[in-house]
Amino acid sequence: MAHINIFDTTLRDGEQSPGVNLNHFEKLEMARQLERFGVDVMEAGFPASSQGEFEAIQEIARTIKNVSITGLARSVTSDIDTAWAALKDAEEPRLHVFLATSPIHMTHKLKKTPKEVIQLAVDMVTYGKSKFPFVQWSAEDASRSDLDFLVQIIEKVIDAGASVINLPDTVGYTSPEEYGSMFQYVKKHVPNIDQVTLSAHCHDDLGLAVANSLAAVENGATQVEGTINGIGERAGNAALEEFAVALNIRKDRYPFTTNLVLKEIKRTSDLVCKLTGMVVPANKAVVGKNAFAHESGIHQDGVLKNAATYEIITPELVGVQSNSLVLGKHSGRHAFHQKVKELGYQLSKEKLADAFRSFKVLTDRKKEVTDEDLFTILTDIQTMNTTDKRYELQAFQVQYGSSNLPTATVALSTPAGERVETACTGQGSVESLYNTLEALIDEKIHLTDYSLSSVGQGRDALAEAHVKMTVNGIRVSGRGVAQDVLEASAQAFINAVNRVFLTAHFMKTTHM
Ligand code: KIV
Ligand code: ZN
Repeated sequence: MAHINIFDTTLRDGEQSPGVNLNHFEKLEMARQLERFGVDVMEAGFPASSQGEFEAIQEIARTIKNVSITGLARSVTSDIDTAWAALKDAEEPRLHVFLATSPIHMTHKLKKTPKEVIQLAVDMVTYGKSKFPFVQWSAEDASRSDLDFLVQIIEKVIDAGASVINLPDTVGYTSPEEYGSMFQYVKKHVPNIDQVTLSAHCHDDLGLAVANSLAAVENGATQVEGTINGIGERAGNAALEEFAVALNIRKDRYPFTTNLVLKEIKRTSDLVCKLTGMVVPANKAVVGKNAFAHESGIHQDGVLKNAATYEIITPELVGVQSNSLVLGKHSGRHAFHQKVKELGYQLSKEKLADAFRSFKVLTDRKKEVTDEDLFTILTDIQTMNTTDKRYELQAFQVQYGSSNLPTATVALSTPAGERVETACTGQGSVESLYNTLEALIDEKIHLTDYSLSSVGQGRDALAEAHVKMTVNGIRVSGRGVAQDVLEASAQAFINAVNRVFLTAHFMKTTHM
């Protein structure tokens, strides 16, 4: 069976989803989970895009040892230099450099002739290869490029030292048949193609990203790129969990192996939802809440008689477990630490102590503490920015009655270390709370989205709030977890503001 390398770009193409901006700690936590999931290559980001991004990629490169780490670069030497600076400490650093090859991109975006594009691609791969042991070259908008032009440019970049050639369907335009034929054509006509790995990278604008990726491997691609939950630019990228499960369930049709650990799928997907605030729809393939639920009587009857009647994927295959009681009110520090280890978290001493405190608070209020609750608490603490220069919720109170004007009173500590408090009204509890926070925070805030969900089931479940907003014109998201919905909502608002505040602070004080 042929082996397919999995190239995960959740932290780069995925992070290009509108309103998604992961902090340093969140990117690192995601990288650790991707390592557990077994991806072969991880695109940690676009190093030249900002100082914060550069430092997050550098830390991932220094921390993650079992995955090849790559970073994106445009076809300019300064991007390649920055990528090298960020990635050089990785166990296996890789450059991912790209240049558009379709007539529409070359004419209107690059304003270059095909000859100039070939020269630039060759120069950039040569330059990249002078630093990196592996260079991946991507023909942006390959699926709308002239096939003979692709053949010409690919031959030249392979001669210049590229070891992976990626042929993206950048705008999600192609069909499985067309995409597969492109791989066949390139394999047949590029004389030195056997020296490289051919890679597929599909976007989901027509809902065909996974189907196109499968067509690519049937036609010679041995690397597939995608993101967890299919997040990404516009309609997103190929969902890696769907691709992996398709290979597993339809081995008869797709005789390929990967290094992915399928039982890590659910946890990886949950982490992406948590960190990005992009919740997957209930009917999403493989990881949606309803993916294993059988509603109709006929189906339920069939499943009871023999699960294979209507169930092609078992929940266990992708790591969906029934929520078991793990720890309770009487569990001590030792049992808690043991469980943290079992769940695969590596927390600093201080964060471990914070996590234990949060766990104790939770056990006082919640009868059953499940893996899902612990996952939420631990992720929250692990990804929290612990700098003291931030807004913090000190206390709040909301008065609501069906015939009163809702009123919130909030006390905050500011990044300057002051305590400020005030009260405002609103049309509902959350609005009064948010109006009060807005009055206390000295930034220009515009809330664009708000959502609330429960972690697990039961009346005493934890609440998780997500917000999207602009702060001083910068788009940002935030999340908050608490047992009370209003507290979770307040924390999400403050979390979003702190992200912008911390980034701005960061940019002013650090130099490359
Ligand atoms: O979709 C695309 O073309 C890309 C390239 C940068 C590889 O993401
Ligand atoms: Zn892409």
